[in-house]
Amino acid sequence: MPPSDTDTTPRNRDDDVIIRAKDVTVRFGSKTILDGLSLDVRRGEILGFVGASGTGKSVLLRTILGLNAKQSGTIEVFGVDYERADEAARLSVEQRWGVLFQQGALFSSLTVLENIQVPMREYLDISPKLMDELARLKIDLVGLAADAADKYPSELSGGMIKRAALARALALDPDIVFLDEPTSGLDPIGAADFDELIMTLRDTLGLTVYMVTHDLDSLFQACDRIAVLGKKKVLVEGPLQTMLDFEDDWVKSYFHGKRARYVVPKDENPYFSGNE
Ligand SMILES: Nc1ncnc2c1ncn2[C@@H]1O[C@H](COP(=O)(O)OP(=O)(O)OP(=O)(O)O)[C@@H](O)[C@H]1O
Ligand SMILES: [Mg+2]
Repeated sequence: MPPSDTDTTPRNRDDDVIIRAKDVTVRFGSKTILDGLSLDVRRGEILGFVGASGTGKSVLLRTILGLNAKQSGTIEVFGVDYERADEAARLSVEQRWGVLFQQGALFSSLTVLENIQVPMREYLDISPKLMDELARLKIDLVGLAADAADKYPSELSGGMIKRAALARALALDPDIVFLDEPTSGLDPIGAADFDELIMTLRDTLGLTVYMVTHDLDSLFQACDRIAVLGKKKVLVEGPLQTMLDFEDDWVKSYFHGKRARYVVPKDENPYFSGNE
C-alpha cells in the first residue's frame, strides 16, 4: 500500500491526493520555465490542465514522470518521491501510470497490437498468448474495431491513433493516465467522442485523468477541475465557476473569449448577450 494511503491527516485529505507537487522549479540553462509551482491531483478526478502555448505544460508533465530534472521542490506520486525512490519503488510507480504523449503517440514500425504490448513486455512477465489477449481487450476498451490490432499507425485515422495510444497508456491497468493534448487534431465530434470515452473509463475503472488540453469543449464537458498554468506556476485551480470568476487577463480572454461563448452554457456565461 502506498504511503499516501496510510497518511490520515484529515486537514489535507491526503488519502485523496495521488500527485502532490510542491514548490517545483524547472530551468533550462538560464531560462526558468516553472517557478515555485504547486499542484495536487485527486484520486478519481479528471483534471484539465491549461495554459498558453509554451508556458510549460508538457515540461511539468515530463517532470512529474521523472523525464525532466527539476532544480527544486518535491513531487510525490502515490506518496512516493520518484526522484529519490529506489529502483523497486520506481518500478511500482511506473506500473501505476500510463501516458499519452503530445508527440509520437505510437511507434510507426509496430502494429497497434505490438504498440500496446510495449509496456507489457517491459514490465510484465507473461506469455505471448496472454499478452495478445490483454492487448485485444484494451483495443475493445477504447472502442476500436478488432481488426485495428494488425494495422500500422499510417493506416489509421487521427482519432484511431489517439484511441490506440490510449489503449497503450492503459496497457498495465494504471491508476492514473496522463494525456497531453489528446483531442488536438480531431474534429469536434471525434473530440467529443474521445471525451465521452475518458469519462466512461473514469467511471468504470476508477481512473484518475490528468489531461493537458486547449480544447474548451473538453474542459467544460469532461473535467471536474481545471488548473491554469500562468506566471510560471498554477495561477488558479478549481471548478469551472472558479475559472469564470477569476480576475486575470489571460484567464478571462480564454474562458470568456469569443470561442468560449459557444461552449459555456448561456446561463453560466455572464458575458453572453443573447444576440450573438
Ligand atoms: N528539453 C528542453 N530544453 C530546453 N528548453 C525546453 C525543453 N523542453 C521544453 N523547453 C522549453 O520550455 C518551454 C515550455 O515548453 P512546453 O513544451 O512545456 O510548452 P507547452 O505549455 O506544453 O506548450 P504547447 O501548448 O504548445 O504544447 C518552451 O519555451 C520550450 O522551448
Ligand atoms: Mg505541450
